[in-house]
Amino acid sequence: MRTHYCGQLSAALCGQTVTLAGWAHRRRDHGGVIFIDLRDREGLAQVVCDPDRPEMFAIAESVRNEFCLKITGLVRRRPEGTENPNLPSGEIEVLCHDIEVLNPSVTPPFQLDDEHLSETVRLTHRVIDLRRPEMQKNLLLRYKATRAFRRFLDDNGFVDVETPMLTKSTPEGARDYLVPSRVHPGQFFALPQSPQLFKQLLMVAGFDRYYQIVKCFRDEDLRADRQPEFTQVDIETSFMDEAQITGLMEELIRFVFREAMDVTLPDPFPRISHAEAMSRFGSDKPDLRVTLELTEITDAVKDVAFKVFSGPANSGGRVAALRVPGGATLTRGEIDEYAKFVGIYGAKGLAYIKVNDISQPNETGLQSPIVKNLDETALKTILARAGAASGDLIFFGADKVKVVNDALGALRVRLGHEKGHVDGRDWAPVWVLDFPMFEYGEEEKRWSACHHPFTSPKAEHVPLLASDPGRCLARAYDLALNGWEIGGGSIRIHRPETQEQVFRALGISPEEQRAKFGFLLDALKYGAPPHGGLAFGLDRIVTLMSGAESIRDVIAFPKTQRAQCLLADAPSGVDEKQLRELRLKLRTEGGSA
Ligand code: AMO
Ligand code: AMP
Repeated sequence: MRTHYCGQLSAALCGQTVTLAGWAHRRRDHGGVIFIDLRDREGLAQVVCDPDRPEMFAIAESVRNEFCLKITGLVRRRPEGTENPNLPSGEIEVLCHDIEVLNPSVTPPFQLDDEHLSETVRLTHRVIDLRRPEMQKNLLLRYKATRAFRRFLDDNGFVDVETPMLTKSTPEGARDYLVPSRVHPGQFFALPQSPQLFKQLLMVAGFDRYYQIVKCFRDEDLRADRQPEFTQVDIETSFMDEAQITGLMEELIRFVFREAMDVTLPDPFPRISHAEAMSRFGSDKPDLRVTLELTEITDAVKDVAFKVFSGPANSGGRVAALRVPGGATLTRGEIDEYAKFVGIYGAKGLAYIKVNDISQPNETGLQSPIVKNLDETALKTILARAGAASGDLIFFGADKVKVVNDALGALRVRLGHEKGHVDGRDWAPVWVLDFPMFEYGEEEKRWSACHHPFTSPKAEHVPLLASDPGRCLARAYDLALNGWEIGGGSIRIHRPETQEQVFRALGISPEEQRAKFGFLLDALKYGAPPHGGLAFGLDRIVTLMSGAESIRDVIAFPKTQRAQCLLADAPSGVDEKQLRELRLKLRTEGGSA
């Protein structure tokens, strides 16, 4: 129907007759002349309807917002002084000769350019929401990124293989979405949390390089960067070690940013160990744009009178400092607000020292509720290690290691961005390497896999599996970008004996191993090749690229924070007949949210 997209019109087309098809974004009646901003996927064009063609003009008068229109007219320059530099087509307008209403529209539930739309309204009327230029831009960007991922992987010998959606529970550690089997009453499929086991089987089967852009399902508490169904760019290779895999994968990410965004990322990406990331940044996905760092002071406060510090320091906890250059200007109100903020992460307080005069490391030069409880030797050590100068403020965290890292790690990022302690870079990727194999669950009183149980331990740490699992490091790696974990993977275990040792360390009995992962253990016996891979979170990458606030803004039909689709109204109840076919009966009590 059309000759051009609205957003493609430019001064080069002046004097030509064009036909456009799209939606009436705005209609303005300027006493005798009607202006219609016509919108399509590529942008807006201004259409001018003069009353000297009465038939056409009468139709233009009937047009309302979101009518679907076809317009034919002459491209001409806008009168001097009325150009719109914000639009690609801002130098020109289309003098309408003919207008056809392809379909009228009822009044839309909201104005498309309303900047205060609630997300509930947007998600309920997602079709109209998706018409907004910002959403069109986000989804087109997502497509460009996806296409770039595919192009690079195709060109590098990766083969796209589909894996089942109706499968068995996979080991990422979130809750499964279950699907009841009608044919096998009382039995359930699980939707995959990732294709992890299948991609490993494809390596055993000899496909060498696999990828899939694939939906994964995890029933977990949602946040701004999490969805219950999300998309991974899932990758696996054989006969490559972690240096080769991470090297190729960062080439892939550089390619995607260049193709989709025209952005050049650093080459190579920096790499730090997990231990260093936790020690310096309190996070395994550090935002390296923030210039603030944590300082270790656990050993320096073991003997101080201040129990808040000496307690954790002597019982396996951590005491750390966060120096804020120039932070002595922070107000009491700001400090209280930050103390409240770290409370979210379990911190019981937020001690601080304002360094008024560094030459007097005592109650004279330091302003703080805790200085009287710290001796001068300890104070001197703390100030020196943190690199403090007059005018600085130092925050402290003292608690279990995890609480201190979570609290000060989050404070570092928030303060850094709020107070301008950033290095000015737009993009700061970093590989985090040498993750621990296991983490100890205080509640469950047992070890669980940090990545997943198919991750290979470092060869020299295999003996630690039985003796000291907490010190055992994994051949695992994560890629973080601007403080978000955008991908993660590992070299896998390819020997059945090692796999069994790891299961044993995790307290998974031989019976349970067979029941859950028997098919993998069997496959490993047939000459499984050394293999490894990773998965990128596509939604997260596109969220960062687009600058959107939430992952939901780069997904066409996302779920709410409460894991619902407001558009289709899902989940929803089912007929008694369907339940009967599945031999299911709903319990009215005993469930918990
Ligand atoms: P992992 O669980 O680390 O690894 O997931 C890989 C990447 O997927 C993204 N991601 C999510 N994105 C949105 N919503 C979620 N709920 C969500 N959960 C994860 C993250 C993450 O880095 N099978 C392994 C990969 C491997 O070892 O090859 C896996 O799934 O960006
Ligand atoms: P208190 O002795 O409990 O009044 O605490 C003195 C100061 O230490 C206050 O500024 C508290 O915010 C801070 N504080 C208390 N507990 C901790 C903790 N676990 N980590 C860091 N600071 C704390």
